[in-house]
Amino acid sequence: MASLSEKAAIFHAECSREVKRPKTRTSLAPSRVRKTRSRATNLTASLGECLERRESSRIFSTHGLTSGTLRTILWAAYGSTAHPVNPFLKRTVSSAGALYGIHPLVAAANVNGLPQGIYSALDGLRYILPLSLISPIERCFRTKHVDYANAAAIVFLVGSITLLSETYGSRGYRYLLIEAGQISQNIALACAATDIGCVSVGGFDDVFVNSQLCSVENGAVVIHCLAIGSRDAPREELIVRNAEQI
Ligand SMILES: Cc1cc2nc3c(=O)[nH]c(=O)nc-3n(C[C@H](O)[C@H](O)[C@H](O)COP(=O)(O)O)c2cc1C
Repeated sequence: MASLSEKAAIFHAECSREVKRPKTRTSLAPSRVRKTRSRATNLTASLGECLERRESSRIFSTHGLTSGTLRTILWAAYGSTAHPVNPFLKRTVSSAGALYGIHPLVAAANVNGLPQGIYSALDGLRYILPLSLISPIERCFRTKHVDYANAAAIVFLVGSITLLSETYGSRGYRYLLIEAGQISQNIALACAATDIGCVSVGGFDDVFVNSQLCSVENGAVVIHCLAIGSRDAPREELIVRNAEQI
């Protein structure tokens, strides 16, 4: 009987097959892409400051977020850095073969200026589903020690295994996880820059969130999620309170 770590090693090996020849895609961007006016202008803290400040927050205040702050965080997460009508798309993260296999969805519960709902967050916010589909929000998680009830929004990173595996075979799954990791870090840093609380939550209920948010049959699964919201306690106090919650 293989141990868990042996099984993980076997699974990793299965996802390590050599790729014969990735299809070349025309979306690989040339350096001459006209940039749009980006939301980076709202992110004025230095990278060093953001890295210093980044930390997990599991307690949120009831103040919620403004839609402007949410949009800024989402732009940092995975926003387009090229002209919207330019076919040579680039985003704030790198992507194997420029396939961009992640589709962020946002469950907005307490965002000023945005009706409650589940939004597609690919280049702007587009309402797609009622929030009641995943309410109460705690239902989505197995990790119970996060203050989901006061979180302003939950970002679900839905990944297309199909899209990546068409080009990269089983290695594509690894690439998808790496892309989701980059997005998560961008969210964490943008939250640090805007003084918004944020926690990565790997402990979600896969069966439930996948059934409500994506199409597993088509190879789309929730890879990761993050809870975000405002925090009004002094940072030091939050660090102590958060530590007590772990
Ligand atoms: C992939 C991943 C999954 C995580 N899942 C959870 C989780 O389910 N619940 C939670 O409270 N924190 C979760 N965290 C946050 C970690 O507990 C946290 O990063 C760690 O305690 C270090 O604290 P810091 O982020 O404040 O530096 C997760 C972090 C990562 C990267």
